[in-house]
Amino acid sequence: MKELKQYLDDNRQRFLDELLELLRIPSVSADPKYAPDVRRTAEAISRHLTAVGVDNVEICETAGHPIVYGEKMVSPDAPTVLVYGHYDVQPADPLELWDSPPFEPVIKKTKLHPDGAIFARGACDDKGQVFMHVKAFEMMVKTGNLPCNVKFMIEGEEEVGSKNLEKFCHENKKKLECDVVLISDTSIIDNETPSLTVGLRGLCYMEVEVTGPNKDLHSGVYGGAVANPVNVLCSMIASLHDEKRRVTVKGFYDDVEKVSAKERKMMNEAPYDEKQYMKDLNVSELMGEKGYTTVERTGIRPTLDVNGIWGGYTGEGAKTVLPSKAYAKISMRLVPNQDPAKIEKLFQKHFEGIAPKSVKVKVNAHHGGYPVVVPTNSVEYKASEKAMEQAFGRKPLPQRGGGSIPIVAMFDQVLKAKSVLMGFGLDSDDIHSPNEHYGLFNYYKGIETIPYFYKYYAEMKK
Ligand code: BES
Ligand code: MN
Ligand code: MN
Repeated sequence: MKELKQYLDDNRQRFLDELLELLRIPSVSADPKYAPDVRRTAEAISRHLTAVGVDNVEICETAGHPIVYGEKMVSPDAPTVLVYGHYDVQPADPLELWDSPPFEPVIKKTKLHPDGAIFARGACDDKGQVFMHVKAFEMMVKTGNLPCNVKFMIEGEEEVGSKNLEKFCHENKKKLECDVVLISDTSIIDNETPSLTVGLRGLCYMEVEVTGPNKDLHSGVYGGAVANPVNVLCSMIASLHDEKRRVTVKGFYDDVEKVSAKERKMMNEAPYDEKQYMKDLNVSELMGEKGYTTVERTGIRPTLDVNGIWGGYTGEGAKTVLPSKAYAKISMRLVPNQDPAKIEKLFQKHFEGIAPKSVKVKVNAHHGGYPVVVPTNSVEYKASEKAMEQAFGRKPLPQRGGGSIPIVAMFDQVLKAKSVLMGFGLDSDDIHSPNEHYGLFNYYKGIETIPYFYKYYAEMKK
């Protein structure tokens, strides 16, 4: 394995330059305006895969953005690793809050990244982390250290719910046959405290519309006599939490997994500096479900949040109006064993039930996803644990991630394959926020760790 380290050292600058080039393409999947850029990114990824020796690289068309697929089969006796990641990124807005343009990557030092971090949309989520796999593969091939068959499946619609990937998996079960799915799209605790993600939250995303009078009204002539849908929506939303900050949707907690005292104790032993956490966010108090700590609130407890709310006059200056309609996007993060389809129905029923007669409500569902738990006694977990231990010099802690990757539960169901969630970002890397960044340390550490995973996985599978 010494030759791997040497190869990495000899190619550090090029590995970085190639990633920076990829980050210049604005592959925003949510906005149709960027569709040509999303495609250009898929093409760039496919060229990179071909260049490093991946066979049968194809750009697979879908009803939406394309999926990049490729494989390298070294031996029928070797285990097969399916590398999954996404090359699409979140919209960059609000642009004015970026210190440098989101698609013109720059390297800057930060407190948590004293060796420098790449600032660009997608640097951490997930282009930077996907590209680690491409470069790790290059190293393994070039140094003669590829002990597993590899399949790459890099999609362009993760940030918009992976709808077409789900279909692709159903239609390509044979092609995607594998022993394990390897994913770098999550975080470690900090650069001195490696961790492996052993849980992801599920998601149920709703949109509501509240209608009062049949048209916008003069708020002086009618105000006080007719229900204002914005006012009503606000009180309905306020009622979705009780005084303990628990979600009031009837039945919401019915299926929530009860986590053992032992696991809760372990979670709370991981390093966490609450003062720093608050300081970084510039808040003087944290708020969440009573009786749970911050790691628990984001790791093992379900939540409900308004993602956006609008209605009435929101332009410059003042307009006196009693709006006809009000809207909100409301998402719920789910934990094992909550079922997004069931929660969707519970929410709909509850929300319709709390609406006063003075308004009509419509409740619609966007995408959802099942929560995930990863067992820690499996071969794949042990192999990833050993790989991280070798690269970081410390055994990784199991950690539940607060975010969601809806497709992971589907890999389990459709491909009958377990996933390894070996991400290298930090929660403070501002993914989805302005000034997203990815540490150079994290990028190179990931490239170093991945070949160890292949090595130990191949050995332990024998
Ligand atoms: N990579 C994230 C998920 C993530 C981040 C998991 C950090 C754990 C730690 C992923 O790209 C993402 O943002 N997922 C979305 C869900 C999707 C349906 C839009 C999310 O969690 O909001
Ligand atoms: Mn991601
Ligand atoms: Mn994301």
